[in-house]
Amino acid sequence: MFQTIRGTFDILPDGADSAGSPVPSTAAWLHAETVVREIMARYAFEEIRTPILEPLDLIARGVGGTTDIVQKEMFTVERSKETYVLRPEVTAPVMRAYLQHALAQRGGAQRLFYVGPCFRAERPQKGRYRQFHQFGTELLGSADPRADVDVIANLRAIYDAFGVTGTRLRLNSIGDAEDRPRYRDALRDYFAPHADVLSETSRTRLESNPLRILDTKVPAEIALLADAPVMADFLGSEAADHHGDVKELLASLDIPFFEDPLLVRGLDYYTRTVFELESDALGAQGALGAGGRYDGLAEAVGSKSPVPAVGYAAGFERLFIALAAQGIVPATADKPDAFIVALGEDAERVALSIAQSLRTNGRSVDFSLDGKSMKAQMKAADRSGAGLTLILGQDEITAGTVIVRDMKTREQTALQQADVPGALNARLQFDPAASKSGKA
Ligand code: HAM
Repeated sequence: MFQTIRGTFDILPDGADSAGSPVPSTAAWLHAETVVREIMARYAFEEIRTPILEPLDLIARGVGGTTDIVQKEMFTVERSKETYVLRPEVTAPVMRAYLQHALAQRGGAQRLFYVGPCFRAERPQKGRYRQFHQFGTELLGSADPRADVDVIANLRAIYDAFGVTGTRLRLNSIGDAEDRPRYRDALRDYFAPHADVLSETSRTRLESNPLRILDTKVPAEIALLADAPVMADFLGSEAADHHGDVKELLASLDIPFFEDPLLVRGLDYYTRTVFELESDALGAQGALGAGGRYDGLAEAVGSKSPVPAVGYAAGFERLFIALAAQGIVPATADKPDAFIVALGEDAERVALSIAQSLRTNGRSVDFSLDGKSMKAQMKAADRSGAGLTLILGQDEITAGTVIVRDMKTREQTALQQADVPGALNARLQFDPAASKSGKA
């Protein structure tokens, strides 16, 4: 028997359990994606779909060579002397697509969003998987602080639409690339006398990327952070103004946030604004969603001119954890409109053709392929959750009729077979738009 790979899970019609964590049903995933798409549309973000496989170099240069993602967590695929990577995130791929297709030529800033799987070889635990599913936005081609605020407002709006409470938005600015060397030096000077307290990882980071030490989860190191120099004191005047504008605009939209001078991100492309939305439901498992501005990414992946941009990504798995913690029950699948019970070979054949004509008319119909007895088939009809059961026995075949049973009231009426589609539509008040929309 084969099993799903560690850190991955199946999404099943009734939901499932993966290593002790519930995985919601397919219907719940679809509903969540629908809500995300609805809010994305309100903010005029257009959907982009990029490949799961991307060139290794794109990710290495985009996300950054000193990051955990690139150093330890990439799933790589070798093929004809090329190395590809299963995308660990979507920002660098979206930037690749923006440059490859010269999307700037569409005019104005490009508002893009995505929904789809990402892959990181992390140690699996609650809320942390090796294949996980992100939704996110990338607003490319604008340096305006309103763009930063727009993506944050969008992230906020999505969690509000789901009814998620108990969240906090952490905000910081890590300045422009030219502001950071001085800050790095200040951090090195500050931590160097405490090198004996630092973990091996942090000692390495002291050289390669001292900002990441601010991210530490080691208690002895956390104690050191209280007096560490903060980026705010090293921002250039433009980055400082930008940060001031972002905060003012967030306040003007009544979007609560708190400034966290220790917030640095695990990806190297960020400049200026960085943010994370955290939740009580997640504990140490990290953020519901996170992002920031990345004005240097385009050039890092080969563009001759800079493309100022800002975005975020958020994990569906963590959204579901937050929903479960609040007792919000995920959406369930639509039930079929009708279930057909047929007794005998003639009836089975007629049942198949009635099913087909109802389906052509836009109805969803199920029938039993096993249980031969009336009792077994009625049980299956019950289980299906269909509102109506159509019953066809030898008498009905002879008379050209069908019995329609309302599964709630248990009321039964006989109809001519030819009248079934019309009668059903009237009864179910057929509305194609309503049957397609998501539900709460
Ligand atoms: P990230 O912080 O690496 O940022 O991931 C964003 C979100 O993806 C996290 O907050 C979390 O909800 C989810 N996530 C990440 N790793 C896992 C995992 N192993 N298991 C479950 N969920 C996970 C980015 O990916 C950036 N591309 C965000 C961004 C977009 N910045 C600018 N634009």
